[in-house]
Amino acid sequence: MTSSQTATHALPSYLNPERLGPWGIYLTQVDRVTPYLGPLSKWVETLKRPKRALVVDVPIQMDDGSIAHFEGYRVQHNTSRGPGKGGVRFHQDVTLSEVMALSAWMSIKNAAVGVPYGGAKGGIRVDPRKLSQGELERLTRRYTSEIGIIIGPTKDIPAPDVNTNEKIMAWMMDTYSVNLGETATGVVTGKPISLGGSLGRREATGRGVFTVGVEAAQRLGLSVPGARVAVQGFGNVGGIAAKLFAEAGALIVAVQDHGGSIANAKGLDVPALLAHVAQTGSVAGFKGAEAMDAADFWATPCDILIPAALEGQITAANAGQIKAKLIVEGANGPTVPAGDDILKDKGVLVVPDVIANAGGVTVSYFEWVQDFSSFFWTETEINERLVRIMKEAFTSVWDVAQQHKVTLRTAAYIVACTRILQARDLRGLYP
Ligand SMILES: NC(=O)c1ccc[n+]([C@@H]2O[C@H](COP(=O)([O-])OP(=O)(O)OC[C@H]3O[C@@H](n4cnc5c(N)ncnc54)[C@H](O)[C@@H]3O)[C@@H](O)[C@H]2O)c1
Repeated sequence: MTSSQTATHALPSYLNPERLGPWGIYLTQVDRVTPYLGPLSKWVETLKRPKRALVVDVPIQMDDGSIAHFEGYRVQHNTSRGPGKGGVRFHQDVTLSEVMALSAWMSIKNAAVGVPYGGAKGGIRVDPRKLSQGELERLTRRYTSEIGIIIGPTKDIPAPDVNTNEKIMAWMMDTYSVNLGETATGVVTGKPISLGGSLGRREATGRGVFTVGVEAAQRLGLSVPGARVAVQGFGNVGGIAAKLFAEAGALIVAVQDHGGSIANAKGLDVPALLAHVAQTGSVAGFKGAEAMDAADFWATPCDILIPAALEGQITAANAGQIKAKLIVEGANGPTVPAGDDILKDKGVLVVPDVIANAGGVTVSYFEWVQDFSSFFWTETEINERLVRIMKEAFTSVWDVAQQHKVTLRTAAYIVACTRILQARDLRGLYP
């Protein structure tokens, strides 16, 4: 974002206006929705600043006896509709701007699918692969204790994100519970099943990507059986989405991950590829495919493209090469606004992240509800409820896009920001 664009925003002094990072992308998205908010636009500034941002020092003893300090964050972007909800990311590139943007995207996502949460996110600036299990546990426990003053089952409920998993959620739940003096399973979601986790949570995001992908394909008159699908990222989200599309008769023609890019125009054997990745850690070297250059991935002839890896992947540099008619965003923030504009001009339908990958937080919501009642549902009940919520959310956003003749992203922001600001308006300002 340029400084002339940022001039329209009252930026907090703790961000560098010349290097706004992901928060700058989010502000552009809010600008695009503001003309559609009617009288509620008087509250729009609420969306352009997080309600609360906590920066913590996380000191731990390393295995060699030295003391290391890590930067930790927990940002609560908005809690007008309910407690904060959003994951915790362990990554060496985590910044306050990134955690702020991810927390804001959670506010939008939770409102767009109608789960009763605000938006929050956390992170530690660390490369967890460089830590031993003991160091990772001490880091997680100290971080949880430091942010313990603002999280809780009715305040803000963390969950896994990049490089965090159910084991880390178990440590977070235990640390919070020990400090409180009682077992509080509802303080985090994405826990192991034996500690109050939910059936279906692991597959939920990929299942949601598949569900809205099928809905969008139907609207385009695109048949899923026989459709060619390319997937970036073959982890939790991309791997499950690819499996479900293949089971529905689609051909997975290209896959890219951090280790390599592979293609097979006749369709990859997805169960065999999942087994290969489980064994080797990457799609690279898979026998039933040809290797291709990473840069060629975006120009793969395909009908549906699923970015399910990282932020900022579809940009002005590669959006023009994309052949797909439909993009379903499994990752958070994979398309930058300049890429979005090119896709719109080309007539590519983009199902935005805030709808497409909302299956994970939806089943996290089910987990939280089950923990409160200590009554657990069957996997069939969970999947049926997930599919119903995803279809309803997609339909509302689709109808708003038709009504205002806007992209699905702007429509999702219209639906979500209206819900958030209506809550703000009804609650009023204290004092
Ligand atoms: N897991 C969830 O429930 C969930 C929910 C909502 C959104 N998301 C988002 O989905 C995305 C993926 O999350 P995940 O849980 O599947 O993570 P994951 O760690 O299971 O998988 C990430 C995948 O991305 C690949 N990748 C990493 N760097 C890459 C690069 N430079 N180029 C190509 N591929 C690369 C990895 O090899 C891996 O296949 C993230 O943006 C995350 O925030 C995840």
